[in-house]
Amino acid sequence: MSFPITRHRRLRGSAGIRGMVRETVLNVLDFIQPIFVTYGTGVKNEISSMPGVYHFSLDTLKEEVDEIASLGIPAVLLFGIPETKDAIGSSGFAEDGIVQEATRLIKQWYPELLVVADTCLCEFTDHGHCGMVHTHIVDGVVHGDVINDASLELLTRTAVSQAKAGADIIAPSNMMDGFVQAIRAGLDANGFEHVPIMSYSVKYASAFYGPFREAAGSAPQFGNRKTYQMDPANLREAIRETESDVLEGADMLMVKPALAYLDVIRTIREQFDLPLVAYNVSGEYSMVKAAAMQGWIDEQAVVLEMLTGMKRAGADIIITYFSKDAARWLRG
Ligand code: PBG
Repeated sequence: MSFPITRHRRLRGSAGIRGMVRETVLNVLDFIQPIFVTYGTGVKNEISSMPGVYHFSLDTLKEEVDEIASLGIPAVLLFGIPETKDAIGSSGFAEDGIVQEATRLIKQWYPELLVVADTCLCEFTDHGHCGMVHTHIVDGVVHGDVINDASLELLTRTAVSQAKAGADIIAPSNMMDGFVQAIRAGLDANGFEHVPIMSYSVKYASAFYGPFREAAGSAPQFGNRKTYQMDPANLREAIRETESDVLEGADMLMVKPALAYLDVIRTIREQFDLPLVAYNVSGEYSMVKAAAMQGWIDEQAVVLEMLTGMKRAGADIIITYFSKDAARWLRG
């Protein structure tokens, strides 16, 4: 008994035909490469849980940015590790803050390379929370409540200082209530009406941020982020969060993390028309790296399959620590 060749098989029969009918194509223009900048000189320290990702001081940063620009990656996302931290995260909005300095340098070196600034205070506060907190001690255990509105004021100052330094896109990741509206108003009042907001509209309270918190030194010193980040079990809430960001003036939306949330990406894509960003977070990077270093998986194939999956789910843009690798692999 023989079976006729099906249409499916005819369309998969050669690489040429497969390429022609491919529905999702990755492009270097889809990627944003995160960079960690820190104080000091001559620093290029690998983050132990994120092999291939480094902390750079301002004098070693150029080499990294040269590479990113030469690969044709259109944008970088800056995270800062400051020299000093305090209760309000003042190094986050200082004119000579590390992110502001790095932004000025990058825009000087590569005016066309887009600088996306992460607007959050957790890397700059001594308690590691994303805004201001009010603490109290019960039975020797520190408890804290985020003070929402006072935090908004500081976050707005941070966004304005980042825009002043030359940031092309403001990406608030703090998840305070009303942050998009507050930051939009602050930017507009200071002459930055043209600077778009890429809102971390759907940000889950995720264990996948573990390596990042080591990298950024931003683990909360007490409590957790569950009062301001979302419960991983919720999808309808993601729609409500996004809706309010859209009404408050977000120009681009984001779902974070990506891998365990592809259904959320698909849902947001279907319900909203704004450009959608997927954040392929640190834990997703580290898992792949660890398995690849053991020789258990084919790194290139796995990474490209994951990134394709995020785009197929509905992402227009992907923030990924694999940007440089993927750009190289796509070049062939
Ligand atoms: C800051 C911020 C975090 C990430 C991006 N911005 C950490 C957090 O919310 O704890 C995580 C990124 C990653 O894991 O790659 N709020």
